[in-house]
Amino acid sequence: METIVGQDVLVCKAILENNGVVAIPTETVYGLAGNAMNIAAIHKIYEVKNRPKENPLIVHISSFQELEKYAFDIPIIAYKLMSAFWPGPLTLLLKKKANIPDEATANSPLAAFRVPNHLLTLALLQSIDFPLVAPSANPFGYISPTSADHVIEQLNGKIPYILDGGFCEKGIESTIVGFDGEQTIIYRTGSLDIDTISFVLEEPVLIFDESTSKKPITSGMMKYHYSPLTPMVLVDNLDDFEVSNDLKIGFIRFKNQLQLADNELQIILSPTGDLNETAKNLYAALHEMDKKNVELIIAEKVPHQGIGIAINDRLLKASSR
Ligand code: TXA
Ligand code: MG
Repeated sequence: METIVGQDVLVCKAILENNGVVAIPTETVYGLAGNAMNIAAIHKIYEVKNRPKENPLIVHISSFQELEKYAFDIPIIAYKLMSAFWPGPLTLLLKKKANIPDEATANSPLAAFRVPNHLLTLALLQSIDFPLVAPSANPFGYISPTSADHVIEQLNGKIPYILDGGFCEKGIESTIVGFDGEQTIIYRTGSLDIDTISFVLEEPVLIFDESTSKKPITSGMMKYHYSPLTPMVLVDNLDDFEVSNDLKIGFIRFKNQLQLADNELQIILSPTGDLNETAKNLYAALHEMDKKNVELIIAEKVPHQGIGIAINDRLLKASSR
């Protein structure tokens, strides 16, 4: 199959209406999209991604007015969050109606919903009369794509079309939020940071404790994920690191340049120390390092605040293979 890269929403619409799958841009990462109400399309997504069947998919809708067609018993707090953050990098776990097939949610009575904030994808969602399930458009376990180039590198020949919406604005997946009675719980940290969520809700929000959970609730909770093919380790600080000559090592740093013989071997995520810029550049840096033929990647943690919490989570998982 030839994979076409373009900006034609109508071509995507036609493929999706025939139960095919296409890659779509969002503000977080690129998704691999199919009709959420069609079981054949759902199966295709799992097959292309090589994704375990017990790992549910996010349902993408065009606006919060659409939500009640597919979810019920929606808590008031959820409405508060939607009106503050949709379209945007917030995914809500809610009770699903029967029109979302069990295949999309790995048999869970809950489905994950979000309205992505990207003009092309919103135009596509408005042009069709079904929602789109879309996991990140990477083979299972590998780094999520933040550009059409990344998708081509990973899925060339496996899908008919990539809707090219440029470089993803946020660069890290959406934040997944669920509700336990009155309590709001973050099941996957992401582009929307916890402080912003608790500010809007005017109450504390919990981050789900992965270490005490027997079974991962989201794949973001598995020990390794988002990983480059090259072995990677994560350190607190690279300042006092002694560079050895034995291995060809690639360095991923937060903001300061390391004194290295070969500057090709380091990537600075944000020279100004901006965490949003760091998030935006993170996956591209991992993709790039994988192409440098280094034997080991050493990455450095970023300040553990705001979106830095999600960045450190991804760095840790990328280095846990
Ligand atoms: O930013 C994003 O969320 C991107 C873009 C494409 O929208 N999508 C994304 O999808 O990251 P994926 O499939 O790579 O990650 C979705 C996560 C998984 O960890 C999955 O387990 C969790 O959402 N999830 C989906 N439905 C769920 C459900 N019903 N219950 C619990 N977790 C769910
Ligand atoms: Mg993913």
